Amino acid sequence: MNKITAAITCVHGYVPEYVLTNAELEKLVDTNDQWITTRTGIKERRILKTPGLATSDMGVEAVNGLLKKRGITADDIELIIFATVTPDMVFPSSACILADKIGAKNAWGFDLAAACSGFLFALETGAKFIESGRHKKVLVVGGDKMSSIIDYTDRNTCIIFGDGLGCVLLEPNDEGNGVIDSILKIDGNGRHFLHQKAGGSLKPPTHETVDAREHFVYQDGKTVFKFAVTGMAEVSAQIMERNNLSSNDVTWLVPHQANLRIIDATAQRMGLSNEKVMINIDHFGNTTNGTIPLLLWEWENKLKKGDNLVLSAFGGGFTWGAVYVKWAY
Ligand code: UT7
Repeated sequence: MNKITAAITCVHGYVPEYVLTNAELEKLVDTNDQWITTRTGIKERRILKTPGLATSDMGVEAVNGLLKKRGITADDIELIIFATVTPDMVFPSSACILADKIGAKNAWGFDLAAACSGFLFALETGAKFIESGRHKKVLVVGGDKMSSIIDYTDRNTCIIFGDGLGCVLLEPNDEGNGVIDSILKIDGNGRHFLHQKAGGSLKPPTHETVDAREHFVYQDGKTVFKFAVTGMAEVSAQIMERNNLSSNDVTWLVPHQANLRIIDATAQRMGLSNEKVMINIDHFGNTTNGTIPLLLWEWENKLKKGDNLVLSAFGGGFTWGAVYVKWAY
């Protein structure tokens, strides 16, 4: 009997309608379109403006689209893994809230926090439940309402992030397609350079923490850049070597979108030309956990069975990694 792998059998995404342009940011902070474009590659991002809507609501839109496309119902889902740093609430998990909203009565699930690498960590975790034979339909969701934790008076961070969410369905495959290999890493010393200072058990919310704007993303961009540019390139090259993939064998690089310069360095290290690199940073910015599934969603029509994809990310923690996926449809 052939080995069972976990194949992505469907992908869908959702981004809010509101477009936050560089021109609008110029009115909020001391920045300009030219600086943002040349230093990051970002032109615009989407923002979830509607009051009362949270990360799980983007999940409802994306998952309902996926279920329809795949021709299954919410009751067919056995496990939901929701990668996010902006859960609706600290608890219960957004996986619980999403399951309730879509009516997934037979699923269990949990949230997974690994910042910008969260979708990769969730994909690897979900794949194990398929490979073991425990489950036949696992939903892996990645998304964030970053606008809920971004300080729109801080030009170091507000120009980068946007809101969005994507999801994939994992099912068993006996043709050798799906999640083939992964290299995933953490280094907690990186917490000093990218974090949210207050709101957790270390520093619960007080009037003072709110006044000090400590519930927003803090980033020492230069230091994070330095680690990201080497970290993402290194694991991406390693996963190619380990699987005997030459640059010709790799059909697509699916990189986290934090900065176009980090993506370029990764592609260069892998020996890939620009045409093999999926890019959505120009129109979505950095959507944290949403980035990689949103790329797969946007590129779905171009993907072919047997294509070799290297998914690669770097984020807060630090967390980083690369996952080798053979496209299944
Ligand atoms: O997704 C999670 C992981 N995150 C990342 O991977 C992000 C990694 N970091 C980055 O992408 C970049 O560091 C940033 C895009 C955040 C910043 O770009 P940079 O090239 O590292 O800029 P910098 O912080 O070194 O600042 C260069 C200059 C400074 O001015 P001086 O000191 O040279 O006069 C900044 O004050 O640019 C200034 N600056 C800005 N100017 C206009 C910083 N932010 C802005 C801005 N608009 N928004």
